[in-house]
Amino acid sequence: MTQDELKTLVGRAALDFVPAGAVIGVGTGSTVNKFIDALATVRDRVAGAVSSSVQSTERLRAHGIAVFEANDVTGLPVYIDGADEIDGHGRMIKGGGAALTREKIVADLAERFVCIADASKRVAVLGRFPLPVEVIDIAREQVVRRFASLGARAVLRAGVITDNGHPLLDVHGLAITDPLALETEINQWPGVVAVGIFARHRARVCLLGAPEGVQRIDYDAPA
Ligand code: A5P
Repeated sequence: MTQDELKTLVGRAALDFVPAGAVIGVGTGSTVNKFIDALATVRDRVAGAVSSSVQSTERLRAHGIAVFEANDVTGLPVYIDGADEIDGHGRMIKGGGAALTREKIVADLAERFVCIADASKRVAVLGRFPLPVEVIDIAREQVVRRFASLGARAVLRAGVITDNGHPLLDVHGLAITDPLALETEINQWPGVVAVGIFARHRARVCLLGAPEGVQRIDYDAPA
């Protein structure tokens, strides 16, 4: 099975997590695009979506699915999104598609984060995928120096400005052994808009696509 077929598989499997009549949170990326396409086949089942990017909003609307602003809802039953890496506790690196800030905002509104990913995204320790960090431009070089003091190399993502109008750094060389502590630390740095570590907003469930089929992982299930 190709990676694209695995994405289609988990995109369809995520429909099981969509409550009837609800407004749901929808993320960004090639895996989520498969979910949006699957959702379109049952679009009368949902009241609509809050989207984490202009790209997903356009795709949802093209399928005739109503899109609401995050400010217009008080909560969401579920947020369905992909990941660049996910560890054994449901903690993730996100932001490869530059949508990390809105993804965290929508995830924060949701009761449950359901991650959809192909098996290549599963890692023991986060950090091989360069960590995306959205910054206010005038703080960029100071943030680069802060990462250098941690032994990491932050590189400006060339030609990319986020939906919020900010530049992005990709940070190489981090082994993120304590994701919650590092997320908390980076969030304190002036000029950081959002960091792509999702430990506070980790996945509760992951649907992992593998050639044998979709593996469901429940991170909060009793051992
Ligand atoms: C978007 O900013 C990201 O957080 C995506 O969720 C992540 O990059 C996964 O994307 P793919 O499904 O395209 O791999």
